[in-house]
Amino acid sequence: MSYPDDIIANSLNSPSVFKDSYKLNPDYIPEKLPHRDSKLSELTIAFRDIVADPGKTSVRVVITGRTGTGKTVTSMVFGDRFSKIIREKGIKLQYIHVNCHKQRTLYLITQDIAEQLKLSIPPRGLSSQEVFKIIHDYLDRRNMHIIITLDEFDYFLTTSSMEDIYFLVRLYDELAVTLKRISYLFIVRDISIISTLDKTIKDHIARNIIEFSPYTSDELYDILQDRVKIAFQKNAVTDDAVRFIADTNGFDKGGSGNARLSIETLELSGKIADSERSPIVTLQHAKEANSRINQEASLILDELKYLELHSLLLVKAVINLVKKENRESFPIGKVEEEYTKVCDLFREEPRRHTQVYEYMRRLKLMGIFNTMQSGKGMRGRTTLISLTFPVSQELDDYITKLIGALKNSKQE
Ligand SMILES: Nc1ncnc2c1ncn2[C@@H]1O[C@H](COP(=O)(O)OP(=O)(O)OP(=O)(O)O)[C@@H](O)[C@H]1O
Ligand SMILES: [Mg+2]
Repeated sequence: MSYPDDIIANSLNSPSVFKDSYKLNPDYIPEKLPHRDSKLSELTIAFRDIVADPGKTSVRVVITGRTGTGKTVTSMVFGDRFSKIIREKGIKLQYIHVNCHKQRTLYLITQDIAEQLKLSIPPRGLSSQEVFKIIHDYLDRRNMHIIITLDEFDYFLTTSSMEDIYFLVRLYDELAVTLKRISYLFIVRDISIISTLDKTIKDHIARNIIEFSPYTSDELYDILQDRVKIAFQKNAVTDDAVRFIADTNGFDKGGSGNARLSIETLELSGKIADSERSPIVTLQHAKEANSRINQEASLILDELKYLELHSLLLVKAVINLVKKENRESFPIGKVEEEYTKVCDLFREEPRRHTQVYEYMRRLKLMGIFNTMQSGKGMRGRTTLISLTFPVSQELDDYITKLIGALKNSKQE
């Protein structure tokens, strides 16, 4: 038996497949963004009015797309380069990225903006509106323009008062200024959150929508190969391993098209290879990493086995909606509507409204459904339903099989 110190010293110095594992970190901003060229160009075209006639219009753009489709990284890269190129043309433009999940109130958002401008704001006693006025005066004095990105804007919309949403979005209805120095980029996962907003707000932001589609397996392959080159030792990762990760996550192959998950799987594959003292990352390591990452999902698959028929039909209804509409959450009424169609398809009498709601409540308790109240900025509040796990073809087939099995056992 070895002493712990020996084991630790030994493992510290053992060889690694990694050259620079930081390049796999979610905070790392890569130099290249494969398959997002067209998005960079769409963003540039949307914001170039700022250059044509600075201060004439406040540009508003919405980016939408599922988790891990590169919304945050692409907007950051765009903001950084665009403002640099514009500054070279003699227009002072600063890009400001705010995460609404971290800065949960209008007040915190304005503080964050001021801080990024290196503007000191008296700590207490000022309303957000007053802070915005100070920010605008500051921009006027310096003859500056800013693009504010409100990332994870869904959170702001669902948690803020109507008044705050109005103020932020309709800024120039309330600020009397000659030059509009603030433009916005809103990032949301689910575009339906915008379409249910009040018309007055919607008209201010929904003119320019840029959609980020989930990545296909070939796209993920390119993204992963780029990371393999910069984060791993030469020839340390087999092509099979990369292809496997790309194929299991590719949207075209029933995966979620999520680049974050794919990069995480690549990183874990490397760690598993290291722990086995293998100098290369093999297909086997990638498979092992994938199943560890999907363990949570497999626990849920286990639970599904014990659901009764109509709960399964409800899960199937949400899966259908996710696939049809390329979104993640749906108003409860829409889920019920789809459920009726699914029942029809499986020749089952749909349950009554109150009973369906009871099933939904139980699915939420079991951790299979997530529910969220639609934003205060929306007309008529409604409950939005989403699944707690990603939809794959495999899962869809599995549910269909479970439904078939339950129906058969009923007939016997
Ligand atoms: N085209 C790409 N090229 C290289 N890396 C990418 C690309 N797209 C995404 N990534 C990487 O994938 C990860 C997830 O991307 P990002 O955080 O931008 O996703 P997101 O769409 O903002 O997701 P969420 O909705 O969860 O915030 C990051 O590590 C990012 O660097
Ligand atoms: Mg993001």
